[in-house]
Amino acid sequence: MLTNHLFTITTPLYYVNDRPHLGSCYTTIACDAISRFKRLEGKEVIFITGVDEHGQKIQRTAESNSISAEEHCNNISSKYSELWNTLNITYDRFVRTTDANHQNVVNQFFNNVKKSGDIYMGNQKGWYCVGCEEFKDISENTERPQCDIHKKDLEWRNEENLFFRLSKYQTKIEQLVTSNDFIHPISRRNEIIKFVSKGLKDFSISRVNVTWGLPVPGYDGHTFYVWFDALLGYLTATLNNGGEYKLEQLERSGWPADLHVIGKDILRFHAIYWPAMCMSAGIDIPTRIYGHGFLTREGNKMGKSLGNVLNPLTLYELVGIDPIRWYLLRDINFGFDGDFQNKRFIDLINNDLANTIGNLLNRTITMSRKWFNNKVPIVTVNGNELIKSKSVHTINIVRKELDRYNFLKASEGIIELAKQSNIYLNDNAPWVAIKNDENYDEVSACIYDVLESTRIIGILLQPLLPNLSSIMLKQLSYSPEKVWANDLVWGKLEQDIELPTPKPIINRLDTNIEI
Ligand code: MSP
Repeated sequence: MLTNHLFTITTPLYYVNDRPHLGSCYTTIACDAISRFKRLEGKEVIFITGVDEHGQKIQRTAESNSISAEEHCNNISSKYSELWNTLNITYDRFVRTTDANHQNVVNQFFNNVKKSGDIYMGNQKGWYCVGCEEFKDISENTERPQCDIHKKDLEWRNEENLFFRLSKYQTKIEQLVTSNDFIHPISRRNEIIKFVSKGLKDFSISRVNVTWGLPVPGYDGHTFYVWFDALLGYLTATLNNGGEYKLEQLERSGWPADLHVIGKDILRFHAIYWPAMCMSAGIDIPTRIYGHGFLTREGNKMGKSLGNVLNPLTLYELVGIDPIRWYLLRDINFGFDGDFQNKRFIDLINNDLANTIGNLLNRTITMSRKWFNNKVPIVTVNGNELIKSKSVHTINIVRKELDRYNFLKASEGIIELAKQSNIYLNDNAPWVAIKNDENYDEVSACIYDVLESTRIIGILLQPLLPNLSSIMLKQLSYSPEKVWANDLVWGKLEQDIELPTPKPIINRLDTNIEI
């Protein structure tokens, strides 16, 4: 079943300390857009997502809700899978780190690492953030230090833990992180290079005070540090293809991952710890890590721990899926932070989707139906080259930008083509020209050209706004083929076919709504 056309992509495995919020949706929607794009480009995609269920943070949340950790995890985990289904996310695997098979994978991996001589018992002292599940590099004498992200007091820890010999991989990791293709975007690569150049320290991979974790085989009372177990979830998901959960099967199952998409807060785990762990276990390292920015609200990271989140389901019920995707992909520069603003959200949807694209489609179909017997016109003369060449140019831009995960530039390219098409109609004023029978052929060509550029817009929107795209294409009586290279050719819209009565492709948002 495997071909060299395979593309394995992952979202992070989300903590189930609380239900998903718009920040969690951001990564998943970006991965969905990439997956759809890759499929349209002819790749076979394995899109992995899932949940990270162990650790102290989750143990404490369950305790504070007076329910068992298992019950808590089942509740929240299903909130994630249900949300992805509601939002029509095209994931292929949903892994839970409480799956029985996961324990099996973790044990195999641990044994490999141990055989490489990379595990030893040591003393772990330091300030710990339970929200990040991470030790912070802060001196022991600091009084009541807080986590910058979670704005909560750090906790002092001093305990016997198993350590992973990360320092042994200093040179290899240095080579890896300085290579051109591993970490994107470049600004994040530089952060990591700087961190690595200070010298890598071994890190602890077990805990003695956390019961809600996977037991470390051979070390009574120790459970695996949640990050050690979580990263291996990617392997468990890859192996979940009907075969055995054996690490030797990884290569045949779609490993290494071509792309891990993550937020900037967890870049270090993915770009340093994870490849070193893979090297130690004799497993191929992932090909690329993309660290995107944070979605903020009033300047603060939107997060479960801070409680300033936007609930994606409420937003979905209010506006539907297209506005959410358009806002996240079109407004935020992938790789950088983006601040959610009510007015900007509404304006963007109304301007781009309802006005620019929606009106273009509506007016062109209306004219075509009125003058050409409810059909696409038959073209007998050449139209102006302008719209054709702009469309071809846009196709190239959008494909190139999506290949670089630059959703913003890709969306801008699409909107630009819609604007140019509107201008072309205004400049040619076919509603005036049609009054003279002599202009019939030129008007036919003009309308056909704009219907065609609109069809191309509809096709190009498939990975970004699959729902809106299919509404547009239906109104143009066009059924896309599976691989979009076949659709992205000028002149594919059949002439003389019926066009249904156009309907608005999206509801305008009331400018007074509060999100
Ligand atoms: N469980 C770990 C990941 C383990 S991966 C093997 C974790 N989970 S998380 O739920 O806290 O975060 C998951 C992802 O959501 C991270 O990439 C994080 O950056 C992202 N986001 C969480 N809040 C976010 C925003 N406000 N904005 C954008 N992304 C955000 O970390």
